Amino acid sequence: MRSTDTNSWHPASWQSRKAAQQPVYDDPAALDRAVAELARLPPIVVSWEVENLRERLAAVQRGEGFLLQGGDCAESFTECESDRIAKQLKVLLQMSLVLLSGMKRPVVRIGRMAGQYAKPRSADLETRDGVTLPAYRGDIVNRSEFTAEARRPDPQLLLRGYERAALTLNFVRALVDGGFADLHHPEYWDLGFVRHAPLREAYERTVHAIADALDFFESLSGQKVHEATRVDFFASHEGLHLLYEQAQTRFIPRQNRWYNLSTHMPWIGMRTAQLDGAHVEYFRGISNPIGVKIGAAMDGPWLQELVTRLNPQNQPGRLTLIHRFGVKDTERLLPAAIEAVRRTGHTVLWCCDPMHGNTETTTGGLKTRRFENILREIDLAFTIHAQMGSYLGGVHVELTGEDVTECTGGARGLTDADLQRAYRSQVDPRLNYEQALELAMLISERSKRHS
Ligand code: PEP
Ligand code: CO
Repeated sequence: MRSTDTNSWHPASWQSRKAAQQPVYDDPAALDRAVAELARLPPIVVSWEVENLRERLAAVQRGEGFLLQGGDCAESFTECESDRIAKQLKVLLQMSLVLLSGMKRPVVRIGRMAGQYAKPRSADLETRDGVTLPAYRGDIVNRSEFTAEARRPDPQLLLRGYERAALTLNFVRALVDGGFADLHHPEYWDLGFVRHAPLREAYERTVHAIADALDFFESLSGQKVHEATRVDFFASHEGLHLLYEQAQTRFIPRQNRWYNLSTHMPWIGMRTAQLDGAHVEYFRGISNPIGVKIGAAMDGPWLQELVTRLNPQNQPGRLTLIHRFGVKDTERLLPAAIEAVRRTGHTVLWCCDPMHGNTETTTGGLKTRRFENILREIDLAFTIHAQMGSYLGGVHVELTGEDVTECTGGARGLTDADLQRAYRSQVDPRLNYEQALELAMLISERSKRHS
């Protein structure tokens, strides 16, 4: 059944397969030039960081940690700005702190950042008032305005995307190295515009408990626990645009393996996980830890073949399955998925994406998600994994560190009518800063029941 064998893999071997969700460029020579230029540029991450992440994910998979993966549905080129990036990093760090304090386990932080620029679409074309144009596929492909010029896929955007990914990760690294993420640093505790008083109080209690624990440890040992309190931060994006991913795929002689060095952890989206498709072919040959989104359409045999083909050596930390069944289907579909994977004899890291199965459209035509559904799907996932003797090792969420109004509910009870106020996403609705922090608190509380 396996027509693919590792020996015949190379970074472009996916090109002989059907590649879903790829843009159609009208100037192949310009595309070749852009891809060749991309392939000459230095990588954004290096292989030892990627290996470090894989080892951490292996520990999470063994139940010794928890994965927090989050960020925008899609980053935009115009929002590659210091304030926005710092806020995004901050909300993820604060959430991880809350999770850490509740779970008493290390939290691995992975942003949907520094390269989350390509989006799968349900249709290749979009028609408005009798005019049909290519769909917007993310800033690395075309622009969202509805004009022929903006919607034309432009190969130069691959380079602009690569540059912005590098700028973003460079800034994140500088912030983390410079002490932004140091548990002793005052900015780290700052709650910005969280105005909901109970949320603020609960967060401050957590922070003080951690600060007290640090003080206690430091007075006991007579040493600053500086090193131990520094955090790591990793990048991830959907590995959708295969020419972009291919151009950043490098052979590392020291490791004797191929790596995608555009990010630490690329994932395969739900629309591109076909067994005979180009994405699965590409992903099987890179050595990064990878994710695969698991949705309702994926039956047991499909899932089993994905697990064995993408991780034939059953290497710990290699494969994260991100289930996104939605609150309605989780009870029906998750147990069967866990059982199917168990029958392969392989181990995976299970992660719950409570966002993508819970998207709905308001009567006003806005895409939204209800906080209670997001929380309920996570609750169900914890319960089902625990009942089946499996470990839910992480969550994957779409969020922003800003005060947007895209998802309803949460402690401040945003309603459909509130969504108009600050709805900014071009794609999927994100949890705002307060909702994201609240979600971390609720997960942290609930996880105590399941540990
Ligand atoms: C996403 O993560 O933004 C996405 C498109 O998810 P999925 O592939 O699960 O639909
Ligand atoms: Co999304």
